[in-house]
Amino acid sequence: MVSGQDTVQVDIACLDCHQSGTWFPLSDIPRFEHEKDTGYKLEYVHAELSCVQCHVGESIDAFHTFSVKGTDCVSCHQDVHQNYWGSQCETCHTPEDWNPGQAYRRHNETLFPLLAAHQSLECYLCHSSPGMIPSIECQDCHSSDFIPDLGSHSGLNDRADCSTCHAPTRWNQILAINHGVFFPIYSGEHQGKWNSCSTCHTQSGDFQTFTCLSSGCHSVSGMNSEHCEGNDCERCDGLTYPRTGVDSDDCYYCHPQGNTSKCGD
Ligand code: HEC
Ligand code: HEC
Ligand code: HEC
Ligand code: HEC
Ligand code: HEC
Ligand code: HEC
Ligand code: HEC
Ligand code: HEC
Ligand code: HEC
Repeated sequence: MVSGQDTVQVDIACLDCHQSGTWFPLSDIPRFEHEKDTGYKLEYVHAELSCVQCHVGESIDAFHTFSVKGTDCVSCHQDVHQNYWGSQCETCHTPEDWNPGQAYRRHNETLFPLLAAHQSLECYLCHSSPGMIPSIECQDCHSSDFIPDLGSHSGLNDRADCSTCHAPTRWNQILAINHGVFFPIYSGEHQGKWNSCSTCHTQSGDFQTFTCLSSGCHSVSGMNSEHCEGNDCERCDGLTYPRTGVDSDDCYYCHPQGNTSKCGD
């Protein structure tokens, strides 16, 4: 019988939880501290529960062993997902609530953060079967969105790496964000200085080819005099400006940002 001892089986003094004189209610300021004394932290909703919601026992003695069904979430909570996501509930949930917000936040620690157009989609659009981890390659999910007849896509097929040119925002918006990875055209010296992609990319669909020398842009003669005084031409990082036959790759080599940040003062 519990009342014949000073401590319960788990070696905690009765008066660490109870107040003298009455067994119930428990002491307002118990010496017993769940996290410190048991190593198990009661967080959020768990901290508001009464002890008997987790510690069950047929008798007072049995109750005072403070046994639990287990320490994993799934020992006490029903897996509403029927093992779709496995048994590590804490990957996506805390005892705060079952709100999937935590799942979205955790997702952002994967190689595939859910940003922009992917932000609040149903998980099951991508995780289409239990335990399956989708590919992170755009084209594995979006090859059917590819439009082969589009001028901008010429020379490409539905297995091309869409992320070279597109971000998960809108298919027709993204290059504004991405082009700066190659060369700034939406900011800096070239902002507002061009009318269409073909001002620089004169070969349709081939974006690796570009020219700085389209009419209305830089002229060879103008650039020759900009860079050379007589035989004395600008030098930069091992390259001397060629007085004859300069080409656009040379310009890009010395001006990768379209300004004098690499060469010049
Ligand atoms: C770790 C905390 C803790 C310790 C230590 C502890 N108890 Fe309890 N005891 C409880 C809780 C919690 C209840 C259940 C309160 C409830 O019903 O909500 C309880 C219930 C009881 C009850 C039943 C009270 C009633 O009115 O239903 C008795 C009697 C009791 N304890 C005696 C003891 C004795 C004797 C000891 C020492 C040998 C002891 N307890 C140690 C937490 C503790
Ligand atoms: C949300 C569920 C939950 C609630 C509520 C809860 N506990 Fe616990 N308790 C646990 C878990 C889980 C353990 C760890 C069991 C383990 O490590 O095997 C534990 C461990 C303990 C232990 C140590 C048991 C041992 O075997 O060493 C004691 C004592 C205890 N709790 C007392 C209490 C008291 C008193 C309250 C109320 C103030 C309470 N618990 C409320 C879940 C809970
Ligand atoms: C020892 C049993 C036990 C363990 C282990 C446990 N819980 Fe609980 N939890 C409860 C009980 C009991 C309640 C209150 C009754 C209820 O809502 O089911 C609760 C409540 C909750 C709630 C609030 C539910 C609501 O509707 O407000 C959430 C969320 C929760 N637990 C998440 C978790 C997570 C996540 C884990 C694992 C990290 C976990 N629990 C581990 C017993 C446990
Ligand atoms: C990979 C993330 C993930 C894991 C792991 C996970 N859940 Fe969930 N859970 C969710 C999402 C997302 C929702 C929102 C509803 C939905 O999309 O199914 C949810 C909703 C819930 C709900 C609320 C259901 C409702 O109808 O409101 C409960 C309860 C729940 N989960 C329990 C669990 C338990 C228990 C486990 C562990 C066995 C678990 N979950 C594991 C992501 C997860
Ligand atoms: C737009 C597609 C997409 C959506 C929507 C999506 N996911 Fe994912 N998810 C992925 C991809 C792709 C990966 C693989 C990331 C990686 O390899 O790092 C992934 C990885 C994960 C992982 C990590 C798997 C592991 O073991 O590494 C979890 C857990 C997960 N997702 C849960 C969810 C949950 C829960 C939701 C809904 C809240 C969700 N995902 C919505 C595409 C998606
Ligand atoms: C695991 C599958 C998956 C991967 C990987 C993936 N997406 Fe998505 N994406 C989706 C789903 C599902 C949607 C929402 C349904 C839809 O609109 O097709 C979506 C929506 C989009 C949208 C919005 C479409 C619209 O019409 O509003 C864009 C743009 C997009 N994704 C671009 C990308 C890009 C770029 C990548 C690579 C960086 C990528 N996605 C990777 C599954 C994926
Ligand atoms: C070399 C760059 C490049 C690659 C790689 C690329 N695209 Fe595009 N895509 C473009 C350009 C440029 C446009 C025209 C954008 C505009 O109209 O503003 C475009 C337009 C689109 C559009 C139509 C947008 C609209 O509404 O007018 C879709 C859909 C699209 N791409 C899907 C894809 C998919 C899916 C992939 C991967 C399989 C892909 N693209 C690969 C450059 C590319
Ligand atoms: C002012 C000139 C200029 C304009 C205008 C321009 N680009 Fe570019 N683009 C460049 C330069 C320079 C590079 C870097 C080439 C390199 O990386 O070798 C580049 C690179 C690219 C690349 C990467 C090619 C690769 O795979 O290496 C793509 C795709 C691209 N541009 C698409 C576009 C699209 C689509 C437009 C119209 C929205 C556009 N560009 C407008 C100058 C321009
Ligand atoms: C060998 C490296 C090199 C090459 C190749 C080169 N430049 Fe330059 N460029 C320079 C240097 C150095 C300056 C002087 C920067 C200064 O005044 O601080 C300069 C100046 C300029 C300026 C004037 C910038 C200003 O703000 O005063 C323009 C415009 C320019 N270059 C465009 C081009 C173009 C277009 C090409 C290709 C036809 C090209 N450059 C090739 C190194 C080079």
